[in-house]
Amino acid sequence: MAIKGFGRTDYCGELTRADTGRVVSLCGWVQRTRDLGGLIFVWLRDKTGLVQLVFDANVCGADAFAVGGGLRSEYVVCVEGEVRQRAPEAVNKKLATGEIEVFVQDCLLLNQAATPPIYIDDDHPDESETVRLKYRYLELRKPSVQRMLSTRSLVMQTLRSYMFTQRFTEVETPILTKSTPEGARDYLVPSRVHPGQFYALPQSPQIYKQLLMLGGTDRYFQLARCFRDEDSRADRQPEFTQCDLEMSFAREQDIQTVVEGAFREVFRTVKGIEVSLPLERVTWREAMERYGSDKPDRRFGMELQNVTDWAKDCGFSVFEGAAASGGSVRGIRVQGHLFPRKELDALGEFVKTFRARGLAWMSLSEQGVKSPFLKFLSEEKLAGLLSRMQAENGDTLFFVADKDAVVFQALGQLRLEIARRLDLIDQSRYDLFWVTEFPLLEWDEDEGRFVAMHHPFTSPMDEDIPLMESDPGKVRAKAYDLVLNGVEMGSGSIRIHDPNVQEKMFNRIGFTHEEAWARFGFLLEAFKYGVPPHGGFAFGVDRLMMILTGAQSLRDVLAFPKASNGSCLMMETPSQVQKDQLDLLGIQVKESAPEQ
Ligand code: AMO
Ligand code: AMP
Repeated sequence: MAIKGFGRTDYCGELTRADTGRVVSLCGWVQRTRDLGGLIFVWLRDKTGLVQLVFDANVCGADAFAVGGGLRSEYVVCVEGEVRQRAPEAVNKKLATGEIEVFVQDCLLLNQAATPPIYIDDDHPDESETVRLKYRYLELRKPSVQRMLSTRSLVMQTLRSYMFTQRFTEVETPILTKSTPEGARDYLVPSRVHPGQFYALPQSPQIYKQLLMLGGTDRYFQLARCFRDEDSRADRQPEFTQCDLEMSFAREQDIQTVVEGAFREVFRTVKGIEVSLPLERVTWREAMERYGSDKPDRRFGMELQNVTDWAKDCGFSVFEGAAASGGSVRGIRVQGHLFPRKELDALGEFVKTFRARGLAWMSLSEQGVKSPFLKFLSEEKLAGLLSRMQAENGDTLFFVADKDAVVFQALGQLRLEIARRLDLIDQSRYDLFWVTEFPLLEWDEDEGRFVAMHHPFTSPMDEDIPLMESDPGKVRAKAYDLVLNGVEMGSGSIRIHDPNVQEKMFNRIGFTHEEAWARFGFLLEAFKYGVPPHGGFAFGVDRLMMILTGAQSLRDVLAFPKASNGSCLMMETPSQVQKDQLDLLGIQVKESAPEQ
């Protein structure tokens, strides 16, 4: 029976012993061949996996055998053959289809292939990322990458179906739009029709979704593409996907309940794990005090201890100074680990990258207590500190003295760094919880003014509104983040719907009435026409995917990721454009690139 054209009855990776005796047609790529003279073994691959083909001249005839003999890696073929069970001793446990093989009856060569510049398997993790990204279309053929794409598709489908069950309407919002308030740099798109004017790509659909609430949509969601001109990092890409939602007549709890439900559905469907709800809620204050971070990794201990009151008269001037000037002295205890001097110095340098001026350490070994500030402490003060820190022989203590913000960041990061170095993080655990009651405003040192911590439409907590005048730094917001394993998954808030409060907020962050109207006038105008109380949330689908698949970088969970410098090595973007394209837009490129 000769194959006329190609066809397919089955996928390679799905054949099992139950298919024994069936004649099947398979299509795919050659993974590898082994020519034993009278028999040729070929592994055939499609998106479901591998299956072994056997070319036996007695079964397939001379023509097909000749085609089999000419096959090379990544050739594209269609074969027809009979599924046969392997003898018990010939079962290949490494292949999911290892109990069977397909005895080829006919083979059609559909295409040849040049030798690929990367390995098409998951056994070479050390291959250069530059080469892999340049040939991303070949990397996509790897089973792990195909699995990732299927998982991602399943996550998207699960989210969509779930949101429909919660009576949300999916609405697409414009990509050519205006600067939004998320606070990163915008990608700009020049207008040909309006020379000298620009669209901005949306950093999020924030303003549109609020306008949808005004427009009576009640519950909106979108799997939205967002664009932010930021330096890319392991958990940051210039373009990414949010599951974005907004609800009218909703309080924090209502929104959190919907979001929690979405995470439960995804974990159930993708990982077979039951997330128990409601999730735990930790206030921002508590997260900072205990972990020095608003997205704490709680899968290990080493919590921060506040020793400021002990430090006030401890004898060590650095500590006393911080305590006296309104800052704090806090420490962490690394249980049962002593660091060599070189490592202590390296950790000292590490905290300096987070603006700490130093790292005071104390080690408790058999030989006694060692520390650069030991000489300043009385015996009584030393005993007090050791008891406060619950220190035991074999422990190392670290302290940072500074303004709260610096102490939290330095120790929060040090805690993570030590946990990574000592492998203290329980990787089998998923820790998903809410951080609530974020501050509304934070002080911006560079600009010398308060800025919105989330965005300027975030509502203050009712009882804190009076503090907006008297003590702005203390105002808590109706804002909440969802944290998973120390990664910020998403954020949201109840929005301001009272024009007086909105005006106060703009004043507080240094916008005059005119400036506020110039930037967000269309929203303020819209809000005159009966805006419902509303709020929402957005979480990063890519970040969720990263954790679901155990990936180290967002690059591993996107079909076509950007390299760390924001470029696409495969398409070679960004790239220069033709002069006549620029002329049409009225744009002239300066000779030298602007300084970064
Ligand atoms: P926010 O700016 O906190 O909130 O973004 C929400 C979530 O989007 C993801 N995210 C990113 N993922 C990958 N790469 C990036 N560069 C990136 N930036 C953000 C994160 C983050 O938690 N409009 C508001 C939400 C709201 O108030 O409803 C917003 O965009 O997972
Ligand atoms: P010095 O008195 O500057 O020699 O510092 C003594 C020790 O205190 C050194 O180990 C410094 O790293 C540490 N140190 C200095 N400044 C701070 C600070 N702000 N917080 C914590 N430790 C500090």
